[in-house]
Amino acid sequence: MKNSLEYKIVSLFIDKFKTKPIVVFSPGRINIIGEHTDYNEGFVFPGAIDKYIVAAIQKSKSELCSIYAYNKDETYQFHLNNIEKAPNGSWKNYVLGVISELQKKGINLKPFNVVFGGDIPGGAGLSSSAALENGIVFGLNEVFQLGLTKREMIFISQKAEHNFVGVKCGIMDQYSSMFGKENHLLFLDCRTVEAKPIYIDFKDFELVLINTNVKHSLSESAYNERRATCEKVSSILEKKSLRDANEEDLLKIKDQISEDDYQKALYVIQEIERTQKAVKAIENEDIIELGKLIYSSHNGLQHQYKVSCDELDFLVDRAKENSHVVGARMMGGGFGGCTINVIAKSETKNFITHVTEKYKEKFNKECSVYLVNLSDGTHLVKHYNENRPAKLYT
Ligand code: GLA
Repeated sequence: MKNSLEYKIVSLFIDKFKTKPIVVFSPGRINIIGEHTDYNEGFVFPGAIDKYIVAAIQKSKSELCSIYAYNKDETYQFHLNNIEKAPNGSWKNYVLGVISELQKKGINLKPFNVVFGGDIPGGAGLSSSAALENGIVFGLNEVFQLGLTKREMIFISQKAEHNFVGVKCGIMDQYSSMFGKENHLLFLDCRTVEAKPIYIDFKDFELVLINTNVKHSLSESAYNERRATCEKVSSILEKKSLRDANEEDLLKIKDQISEDDYQKALYVIQEIERTQKAVKAIENEDIIELGKLIYSSHNGLQHQYKVSCDELDFLVDRAKENSHVVGARMMGGGFGGCTINVIAKSETKNFITHVTEKYKEKFNKECSVYLVNLSDGTHLVKHYNENRPAKLYT
């Protein structure tokens, strides 16, 4: 997939713009545990995966920038003096948001062209949006030699999401897509924004993603509401963020907040704790313990933080019925997208057959299954700089 997609994107770029692009691979991500903890300055445990946005980018000789979104078969042309938000939900905001943030930094971009496409399913909780933002900022940095560090680039991507897409996201997605490491998960402290890469070998177990193929519409406003709730509770607690609070602190202010807000803050405090325990479990090669933490994460997301949905709960309930699935939970922002499952390799096939059949019976739609590998973060495809493969350029 990786190579054929790359070939397609580069060929399209050359056909359209008659010049040689630089090529950037920018991956999606998974997250083992630590959900909705990033914007509380807590811990998360994500990793980049071998599903990518591939972006071919080069300076333009015209006055306009031209962006071709291969998967949508849509072209968008605009002038750099006139960067305005596209309607909500449009892919254009990921690109325009990055340009706007670069301009806010005083960077004087010149016209450029992009062709991008990818195999990260959208709305699946696999961060196709962060992958695109990172791919664009990384590519522009390269083409215009802006001298930005990867660290600076992830904050530009995050701000694009805040200001153009309208989601007040944390830093997990942009960080893991940019800094992913092959065969490693990243134990990321979202306060310092520093991560410890941890080598992963689940031996007899493997990670399987199951996509509900649903994305419920209120997910963006519900996300921002959750963040606002956490900030409200931490200010009542007189803490910088929920990262600094424990369950005892929360109990002391219980009568000043609603039961609903109490449960949400409690979830965050417990999830930050679980994430640290999960890292220890992996270091101790205790996959069963890791699985238990993953199941309780889902329980909290479903009942306390209330960001799950029927389709996700259904998949996790089927996982719980099978003793070979040692852990399962919804992954990402919620209200749809994927579950992440830790399954004994010998059982994967049976479980997938069973669960896909039951899902179809219950919701009258298909779920999709992905087996992913942990991969490197956003990077340039070097061989294009070395003029290979030559046949693309002749
Ligand atoms: C989305 C956001 C992330 C993070 C997750 C939930 O993916 O972009 O910053 O908050 O939801 O953990």
